[in-house]
Amino acid sequence: MKVSVSILKEYDRLINAVNKVNQSKADFLHIDVMDGKFVDNQKFPLEVVKDIKKISKKPLDVHLMIENHELIKKYADIIPDYLTFHVEVINDSSLIKYVKSIGVKVGLAINPETDIKCLMPYVGDVDLVLFMSVTPGYGGQIFKEEVIDKIKEFKKVAPSDLIISVDGGVNDKNVSLCKYAGCNMVVAGSYVTNNDDYDKSIRDLR
Ligand code: DX5
Ligand code: ZN
Repeated sequence: MKVSVSILKEYDRLINAVNKVNQSKADFLHIDVMDGKFVDNQKFPLEVVKDIKKISKKPLDVHLMIENHELIKKYADIIPDYLTFHVEVINDSSLIKYVKSIGVKVGLAINPETDIKCLMPYVGDVDLVLFMSVTPGYGGQIFKEEVIDKIKEFKKVAPSDLIISVDGGVNDKNVSLCKYAGCNMVVAGSYVTNNDDYDKSIRDLR
């Protein structure tokens, strides 16, 4: 199981958190970008993500909870390893094509209440699908177990090389549900960053 560590809840001590992820066995550093419209929180402006890229030793897994396509392209232009935006903000595959054309791997995120049918037109074009297991906006929320059935349904039709990830409230108790549903990656924020020893929590999630 790949583990991507979200530093959302460490926003007030970012450099410290990035360094701790650098020193850990995390596979990715997950950055949650929020516009105050798609979700009612605002975080990680463009310049902050650029600065994080300079000091991160881990591949960047940038999760955009933003609506504006021009702004999505600006985050893509930072060239993170993975750029994930929400299926709820697109009507066609033009953004996916743009992001791929500049050499960035593309993820599509889906909110808990959105039908997996919405993913179908795009599954062949993306590298990763990110199932939200909380209403996006904040770290430290409770994992919604309904997502597990959704992931199982999706897994039946997903291309075999697609990365299936889950984000929100992931911990040592629910990670096995995610694994058996078909996830090969999890995003974990507070479960990792609330523990002084990041690697201890990361090990519990593998
Ligand atoms: C929620 C974010 C998540 C969040 C995860 O909107 O997308 O990445 O930071 O944090 P935890 O694991 O604390 O729910
Ligand atoms: Zn996220």
